[in-house]
Amino acid sequence: MEKLLITGGTPLKGEVFINGAKNAAVAILPAALLMDGICTINNLPNVSDVKQFCDILELLGVKITWNNEHEIVLDTRNIIRTSELDITTKFRASYYLLGALLGRCGKAQVGLPGGCKLGARPIDLHIKGFEALGAEVEIAQGNITASAKELVGTSIYLDFASVGATINIMLAATLAKGTTIIDNAAKEPHIVDVANFLNTLGADIRGAGTDVIKINGVESLNHTGTYSIVPDQIEAGTFMLAAVASKGDLIIKNCITKHLESVIAKIIEVGGQVDSNGDKLRVWCDKRPSKANIKTLPYPGFPTDLQAQMGVILALANGTSIINESIFESRFQYTEELNKMGAKITSQGKSAVFEGVERLFGSRVYASDLRAGAALILAGIVAEGTTEVFNLEYIDRGYENIEEKFRSVGAKIERISF
Ligand code: EPZ
Repeated sequence: MEKLLITGGTPLKGEVFINGAKNAAVAILPAALLMDGICTINNLPNVSDVKQFCDILELLGVKITWNNEHEIVLDTRNIIRTSELDITTKFRASYYLLGALLGRCGKAQVGLPGGCKLGARPIDLHIKGFEALGAEVEIAQGNITASAKELVGTSIYLDFASVGATINIMLAATLAKGTTIIDNAAKEPHIVDVANFLNTLGADIRGAGTDVIKINGVESLNHTGTYSIVPDQIEAGTFMLAAVASKGDLIIKNCITKHLESVIAKIIEVGGQVDSNGDKLRVWCDKRPSKANIKTLPYPGFPTDLQAQMGVILALANGTSIINESIFESRFQYTEELNKMGAKITSQGKSAVFEGVERLFGSRVYASDLRAGAALILAGIVAEGTTEVFNLEYIDRGYENIEEKFRSVGAKIERISF
């Protein structure tokens, strides 16, 4: 078991380098199954979700060579299985195998992704898309089985701009006969990245990043390709908000400002300052943050994956703030941990009220999900005294060397086995 031991009170100063986007990587890795050949993917984040997906792909017959910890070569010429039930049940993003294997082999079977701490997280929109393309989908004994003699392009309207459903339908439609239109599509940067990856391999996907995506099915993809994963806007946003919370001054390197406009707007609203220069962002704040209200929304709105990190700032703001979490049913567990540190937050369903306090105090806190864990690290860095953060397996899913990165900009933080 491991924990992070943090001694708070040091403003963060210096430069951090942002890795490739975890949520792009866990979609692009299965997307590679649509290609019968060999492709190189670089700028992968060195995180457990990526390693987990590589293990699943190898079980399916993909040969993987690691050129370094951020670059792999995938040989997808010999798919030996279209079903993986054990690991996929525990690893939510493996539902992308449904779209990819349906497209490549006409059949797929994975374990049903359970709900998680964020809520029920059904996949009805994914299934609606597969069925609209002509697939048969069966859910039984905790598994999802999808099969199709032929996938035929059609128009699909998403009742909610679901990231996962948008990507999964895009994967299934890539090799389908005819044209598929996804209406009310999600527009997150990693959706654009998946479309760019597939187009690099010869797919014909247009409109990714808008709410209407058009996929003209192609016979097959190229047999070789190379692609570099987009920088992780959520990792970048996490460090931007850490600069504000700690009243520090950080240069965030290798990020795309366009992907962070909603975060920049909120940082300025609470009294922080931002200067962008190409793929670098400077974020600093030299005073107690002002209150602000946040409503999480699909991109380009304020991202739900930065809600908890923003909550740390609002917990210390001058005044009372409200966060409305419109994406997930329950994404406020972290507030109970912040209250243990002296915050005054009351949450009810999809809303939470933050009565700003002057300071937080170190405590033993427990991560309930990946982003809540990142928020608790921010809280430990700004709190008086020592904080211990547990359940690091959540954090390691999506952040590469998070304690090294924070330590490199002044945080007193170390990972301890116990
Ligand atoms: C992706 O999850 C991300 N995960 C999440 O990041 C992120 O929080 C979320 O998008 C929103 O941006 C990955 O990309 C691997 P959704 P996903 O489908 O695809 C409902 C992180 O910390 N919904 O947009 O599951 C669903 O219940 C993770 O990196 C349906 O009702 O998000 C939820 O309330 C956490 N039916 C909402 O839509 C469906 O068929 C958003 O889900 C699908 C979704």
